[in-house]
Amino acid sequence: MIQKIKHTLSHLYHAFRIYGSDARHYIAHSLIRGYDKSEYSFLRMITLRAHVVEKGLTMPHMRANFGEENILALIALCKQYAQAKHNTTHTLFLEAISVLCEYQRVHESMGKPIHPQIQEGIEELIKLCPDVPQHNQPEVQSSELFKHGDFAYIAQHRHSVRHFEGHIRYEDITKAIDLARTAPSACNRQPVRVHIIPHGALFDRLLNLQHGNRGFGSDAEYLLVVTASEEGYTGFNERNASYVDGGIFLMNLLYALQYHAIASCTLNCSFLPDEEKQVREALQTEDIAVAIVAIGSCPESFQVARSERIPVSEIIVHHDTQA
Ligand SMILES: Cc1cc2nc3c(=O)[nH]c(=O)nc-3n(C[C@H](O)[C@H](O)[C@H](O)COP(=O)(O)O)c2cc1C
Repeated sequence: MIQKIKHTLSHLYHAFRIYGSDARHYIAHSLIRGYDKSEYSFLRMITLRAHVVEKGLTMPHMRANFGEENILALIALCKQYAQAKHNTTHTLFLEAISVLCEYQRVHESMGKPIHPQIQEGIEELIKLCPDVPQHNQPEVQSSELFKHGDFAYIAQHRHSVRHFEGHIRYEDITKAIDLARTAPSACNRQPVRVHIIPHGALFDRLLNLQHGNRGFGSDAEYLLVVTASEEGYTGFNERNASYVDGGIFLMNLLYALQYHAIASCTLNCSFLPDEEKQVREALQTEDIAVAIVAIGSCPESFQVARSERIPVSEIIVHHDTQA
């Protein structure tokens, strides 16, 4: 009995120390502390808001004048960014302005006036960056999306799809999950499970808990919930391993779904503990929720959000052999 109490106290002490250290690091380095700490943070905050606009522009039932509050905040952010003398030729900054210009063009073509403050703000930003690219959200053909090519082809043609229509075969879902089993995992412990959820009460409950599926989630034919068990991990050093293994499986699953001609859109499981508990209860599992994937069939032609990528030079961090 005493031994058990000692163990529990020791676990609690280590949990407090280790998770406390994680929390301090997160608070110090995430956007919780504000976006104006660095150009990097600023750009990510801009991208977060610009993504809402690019997504809105490609929604199956786009609403005129959608998201005005977000757009005004995005414009203010872009102005602040430029005033702070950050790099106004950065891909993510230009992409944000480009998306705002597209919002303006789309409304023009619909004959719908936009909020005067938005109009004014966009004009000011164009003056700041006259060479901003004038591209639209891309139109994708499902025949190209699902064509079997080499890995480069598949990777370059994968997109998050938010337009669902028609039906997929249940056996194709299981084939895709079967293919996704090729994902590696730490020490081959394979912690992942995939919950297949058809339309119904559970489907609705999950979509209500999830933040990020408005305007398209309920059009999906199924939700796949990728969960990972923590039961196979040993010490506190492996506290994030289920998320890493789960994330790797998730990416493999997205490609496997594409291979089997199933359209998909990942939905975040960025829940606070209370919501996470509700998800666990709904799924009747103690596993952690890695991601939800909305899946279904899609039309022959539809728009996807561009989601421009940063250049590879910003991803590679070269270390000298002498270092
Ligand atoms: C972990 C994760 C969570 C995501 N959550 C959402 C979400 O809640 N809603 C949504 O519409 N898209 C979501 N997405 C899709 C991203 O917006 C999308 O992957 C990104 O913009 C890149 O576009 P692409 O997938 O078309 O290449 C998520 C993607 C990932 C990887």
